Amino acid sequence: MIRIGIIGYGYWGPQIVRNFCSLEDCEVGVVCDKSAAALRRAKQAHHSMQVSSDIGETLSAPNLDAIAVITPVWTHFELAKAALENGKHVFVEKPFTSTAAQAEELIELAEKKNLRIMVDHTFLFTGAVKKIRELVDEGALGKLFYYDSTRVNLGLFQHDVNVIWDLAPHDLSIMDYLIKDKVEAIVATGERHLNGHEDIAFITVYFENNIIAHINVNWLSPVKVRTTLIGGEKKMVVWNDLEADEKVKIYDKGVKITSREGVYDLLVSYRSGDMWAPRVEQTEALKAECSYFIDCIKNSKTPFNDGHAGLKVVKMLEAATESIRERGKIVRI
Ligand SMILES: NC(=O)c1ccc[n+]([C@@H]2O[C@H](COP(=O)([O-])OP(=O)(O)OC[C@H]3O[C@@H](n4cnc5c(N)ncnc54)[C@H](O)[C@@H]3O)[C@@H](O)[C@H]2O)c1
Repeated sequence: MIRIGIIGYGYWGPQIVRNFCSLEDCEVGVVCDKSAAALRRAKQAHHSMQVSSDIGETLSAPNLDAIAVITPVWTHFELAKAALENGKHVFVEKPFTSTAAQAEELIELAEKKNLRIMVDHTFLFTGAVKKIRELVDEGALGKLFYYDSTRVNLGLFQHDVNVIWDLAPHDLSIMDYLIKDKVEAIVATGERHLNGHEDIAFITVYFENNIIAHINVNWLSPVKVRTTLIGGEKKMVVWNDLEADEKVKIYDKGVKITSREGVYDLLVSYRSGDMWAPRVEQTEALKAECSYFIDCIKNSKTPFNDGHAGLKVVKMLEAATESIRERGKIVRI
């Protein structure tokens, strides 16, 4: 039985508590939050749950094997570091840390103490992303051309980070999972309208081998959109995460250049074949992820969404931040 303490019971914390509670080989030992109102909500949802506002006591509790850090981004480093120093495995929310240097320090500390770090890149555990990864791995899409994502809705405005640090970690972690080629450079533009943080942003990621990605993140959209296009030489995917049943659609569409005898002699032929929607696993991603964390602890396995995966995302976020400050300067990774 692995015993976990969960710090942070705001918007996302209840999902984490519910999912760890649902696992057979895990027990939630305590829910800790500095807010009394949050602890009252935790107690209402889980009557017999031990709750605490004492962060130091939670981090060092001898009966806990692991700590989940579900607090705002700027607190991740301090809390995760203290947990590791106290010999606890850590599950940390995305984005892993506020800087790459902090992420590197946590990775080193965990390695020295032989402890696991898992960064909550929830989408990697969804049926849709697993299916797309399968298609990429088996070569069904052919050489990848692009990843193009729209992730927009009205709010939830964050107080400590801009829309890039809030929403783009999802796409950056998905891209890192699907695309094996290295990221070369990032360009980001965006604007602030309300609370001093960018609330709309456009990020372009250049990969090796002519793969390009574009991410549109926006807290000021009247409608919620979660649509990603992934274009390959052989097939193209449309993933609409808001669709109940057919989230992933594969289009047998493409373009073929049949002559390269000078620019005026290019013969372009278009292929427009079938579209189909493969069966996509429906289990709750977060439950699968929490269960995987417990499994990694029990069997001393390094999770694929470990500190290094978290660090790659933070490096891209840092590059995007640098680029946005200079109105779209190209930043090499
Ligand atoms: N994986 C996902 O899909 C997903 C979704 C939403 C949020 N998140 C992440 O979860 C984290 C929390 O986001 P949220 O929306 O729940 O934030 P929130 O502000 O709603 O909740 C944070 C909670 O942490 C508590 N807290 C803050 N500092 C603390 C400290 N030092 N010690 C103890 N408690 C403290 C606050 O009182 C609050 O109850 C963020 O990193 C966010 O990026 C991830």
